[in-house]
Amino acid sequence: MKTLKWLIMATTMITTNTDIAGQPDYDGMIRAAIQAPSGHNAQPWKFHVDSSSIEIVPDFSKSLPVVDENHREMYISLGCAVENLCLAAKEKGYQPSPTIQQKDDTTFSILVGLTKEQVEPDPLFQAIETRQTNRDEYNSRMIDPDTISMVREVEEQEGTRFYMYPRGSNMYQTLSEYIYRGNAIQMQDKAFKKELLSWIRFNQKQIKETRDGLTHEAMGTPATPGFLGKMIVGMFLKPDKQNKTDRKKLESSSHLVLFTTKNNTPREWINLGRTLERFLLKTTTLGIANAYMNPPCEVNVLAEELRESITENKEYPTLLLRIGYADPMPYSPRRAVDSVIVD
Ligand SMILES: Cc1cc2nc3c(=O)[nH]c(=O)nc-3n(C[C@H](O)[C@H](O)[C@H](O)COP(=O)(O)O)c2cc1C
Repeated sequence: MKTLKWLIMATTMITTNTDIAGQPDYDGMIRAAIQAPSGHNAQPWKFHVDSSSIEIVPDFSKSLPVVDENHREMYISLGCAVENLCLAAKEKGYQPSPTIQQKDDTTFSILVGLTKEQVEPDPLFQAIETRQTNRDEYNSRMIDPDTISMVREVEEQEGTRFYMYPRGSNMYQTLSEYIYRGNAIQMQDKAFKKELLSWIRFNQKQIKETRDGLTHEAMGTPATPGFLGKMIVGMFLKPDKQNKTDRKKLESSSHLVLFTTKNNTPREWINLGRTLERFLLKTTTLGIANAYMNPPCEVNVLAEELRESITENKEYPTLLLRIGYADPMPYSPRRAVDSVIVD
């Protein structure tokens, strides 16, 4: 039944595509780009469309000042969107050439040049519509070594790496302990919880109005009036409660995947987003679910400790995922394509 529901939802997403007047070739590319994941589903991107290029720029009005004060996760999200855009360009017979541009001290954009020519489509494109973040408990089945080798082949963009640790390994245990410590810190941080609650969409009305954020469905909770939802979820944002649920999730997952950058720069964060998106699409094609366990990378003191003691060559721990097998969850909404295109 769950699978049928998921198929209907995926089909609906594909068939509701519409074109942007005057730019038929670029419509689908931007639609694919905005299917990318983003922190809190804030969708922190805007697009400038030109005759032979699309530029992706950060939308700082959608930034997350508490959990992402230096915009690292924002630039990772932009990198994910770039990768989707490039895959869609190839699908439509355009050769994409993405270049990162520095606008000022903290602002970077990505200009994707598009040349109409004979290009080989990339099969990962097909997974864009079905990729999702799956926060459910998984079914405990381990991913076999042959499948892990296939995932290992995902290309790592410059300055980025990823490492996979199976459940039962020392690193899985060590990283799990870092997750619990990270939860303990974040769940006592009033500003963190306030920001998180402001992005939760507790019912259909809120989802329809905003078309962004963390929906109650994607989090596996029932719909409630906003005030009640805030109260109930607020009660669960406690260190012991969060660690209890995360323990079950970690016990049911197959691997933890740590993504690192060499120098912790915005260019590398964008590159990491590209590596991440290809990783997510590849695992999606293999029927593998994923969810984020980021506290050890988001809490600076823990990230620094991890870097000193764990990562190879003192790389920066930047993102942590769990992967495994699970039934699909409901999809998260996206804003309309024309609302993210600017002059
Ligand atoms: C850089 C980045 C950080 C994220 N951090 C978290 C996180 O800490 N916890 C979480 O549950 N999801 C996290 N997510 C997943 C987003 O919440 C998710 O992508 C968004 O809600 C849209 O849903 P979708 O991925 O199913 O399309 C993150 C995604 C990105 C790209």
